[in-house]
Amino acid sequence: MLFLLCVCVVLCRASADPRPNIVIFLADDLGWNDVGFHGSNQIPTPNIDALAYSGLVLQNYYVTPICTPSRSALMTGKYPIHTGMQHSVIRGEEPRGLPLSEKILPQYLKDLGYKTHLVGKWHLGHYKKEYLPLNRGFDSHVGFWTGKIDLYDHTNMELNTWGFDFRRGFEVADDVFGQYATDIYTKEAVKVVNAHNSSEPLFLMVAHSAMHSGNPSEFLRAPDDVIDRFTHINDTQRRKYAGMLTKLDESVGKVVESLGRRGLLENTIILFSSDNGGPAAGFNANAASNYPLKGVKNTLWEGGVRGAGLLWSPLLKQQSRVANQTFHIVDWLPTFYSAAGGDTSVFTERNIDGFDLWEALSSDLPSQRTHIVHNIDDIWGLASITVDNWKVHKGTNYNGSWDYWYGPGGRDGAYNFDSVYKSKAAEAIEKIAKLPNKDKITNLRDASTIKCDKSIPVTPCKPLEAPCLYDIYTDPCERRNMAEEKPDILQELLAELDRVNATAVPPINKEVDPLADPKYWGRVFTNFGDFERLRTPPVKCT
Ligand SMILES: *[C@@H]1O[C@H](CO)[C@@H](O)[C@H](O)[C@H]1NC(C)=O
Ligand SMILES: *[C@@H]1O[C@H](CO)[C@@H](O)[C@H](O)[C@H]1NC(C)=O
Ligand SMILES: *[C@@H]1O[C@H](CO)[C@@H](O)[C@H](O)[C@H]1NC(C)=O
Ligand SMILES: *[C@@H]1O[C@H](CO)[C@@H](O)[C@H](O)[C@H]1NC(C)=O
Ligand SMILES: *[C@@H]1O[C@H](CO)[C@@H](O)[C@H](O)[C@H]1NC(C)=O
Repeated sequence: MLFLLCVCVVLCRASADPRPNIVIFLADDLGWNDVGFHGSNQIPTPNIDALAYSGLVLQNYYVTPICTPSRSALMTGKYPIHTGMQHSVIRGEEPRGLPLSEKILPQYLKDLGYKTHLVGKWHLGHYKKEYLPLNRGFDSHVGFWTGKIDLYDHTNMELNTWGFDFRRGFEVADDVFGQYATDIYTKEAVKVVNAHNSSEPLFLMVAHSAMHSGNPSEFLRAPDDVIDRFTHINDTQRRKYAGMLTKLDESVGKVVESLGRRGLLENTIILFSSDNGGPAAGFNANAASNYPLKGVKNTLWEGGVRGAGLLWSPLLKQQSRVANQTFHIVDWLPTFYSAAGGDTSVFTERNIDGFDLWEALSSDLPSQRTHIVHNIDDIWGLASITVDNWKVHKGTNYNGSWDYWYGPGGRDGAYNFDSVYKSKAAEAIEKIAKLPNKDKITNLRDASTIKCDKSIPVTPCKPLEAPCLYDIYTDPCERRNMAEEKPDILQELLAELDRVNATAVPPINKEVDPLADPKYWGRVFTNFGDFERLRTPPVKCT
């Protein structure tokens, strides 16, 4: 009897309400203005755009300003100030990882019966095996452990060292040496989809290397024939960026196509997101664009923290719209868990910062999120929060040298609607949902294109001397510092910042460990912390 009851609970649930598949495409260092749906015509992203127009453009979507903190926020549902991850990134030789006390997204989804796969970048700690994806809820991982790699040779040069970094699970994957990283991820993700048992729910995260710059020998790499499609872009770095982005967009299309072929799309939720704002104008030797937003990656200006993102799913009740719900990357954990039919009360004792905003996004209801902690980093000396429409900056990074506006705008030329309709993603989703017509796309695109109000004067802001205050709703480009005009609001925001700051834990950064140097490990970045016994004092020859 009890046995029959259990069978029914499992089977009845499976047939009545199968849990949705969840697929995350995480782009690395992609700028706000690098997706076609935000108004640029310069580099077509037809597959990504097709998903956006048929799903939700996440217009008030925020991430954190750099890799490790953003990935930690996505995985834990917590602000980096609450996990010690708020300062900088994990270095390849740093004995540090996302604390093991944190339960993370794939672990929560496994509780609900999901099969979980990571393809691509990890960057949440690798110095001991217990920090690696396979020990943190992922059933499989093909990709790399550190912050970035050369897209062809899969080595990472950072600080004073250099080593290979590509793995299949725990094993060094030198079989793919020389293959373009984005192509490897595409192939592996499609393989996961093809091998997936469709009577179980799938969680697939494809964490791309693109658009992060690689090694100094050649920072931005893509196949020559793809780069050559962009001879009209004069800036060589931007032209290479265009090649990388085209490969990324094609990859998204191919994975969506494979989901369609397996009949999985009907019950799938797709998130496409950048991890942080774009490194523009040569920042990090890269060529992203956050136009017309201010700042770059690793700054707390909108250009550093406003994320290019979209959510697609036939399960969304109000589709094909620009979603203005305020949303932060910490919200994905409870939002996905809720969409998966999980009981979000599991998060209460975990003290997460994220909200379950599934209903808000799905049915176009007000977002519960009114506050965003962009970051508090007392080492670099910068902090910023948003409360409703008001945003305060205390301090800034790089001594203020990246506190400006950078192009390109990419507004010349025409938008290629046909490439959107003919994209692999469009072909796959059109079997389920109609893509909007050109007029509707034009409207959606217009509504998701941020226009700086040039009549708003640029008033001086010296965040190293005094806090600056902006009204983000009317002035998303952060032109007019209203700190002097609105002293009461400034005081309220500073008080809120103090309150939040009091909840912060100290950053857990560590000195790099000489034992980590890949030169001791066959030129491979490895889990050096598991080999303490090899740390022998130098042998003296007598
Ligand atoms: C697929 O998953 C279902 C449900 O877990 C299981 O009963 C079935 O045996 C699986 N099929 C294969 C081929 O593994
Ligand atoms: C690109 O360079 C060519 C040749 O130097 C020049 O004629 C053209 O105006 C440039 N285009 C842009 C968009 O800067
Ligand atoms: C979203 O739109 C509604 C209705 O137009 C508006 O009241 C609200 O302030 C907007 N929210 C944001 C975050 O822009
Ligand atoms: C920071 O910038 C100010 C103003 O531009 C300049 O005077 C100062 O020397 C800079 N400080 C550092 C450490 O670069
Ligand atoms: C946060 O609190 C710490 C410790 O009290 C303090 O040193 C730091 O200046 C505060 N940071 C900000 C941005 O207020």
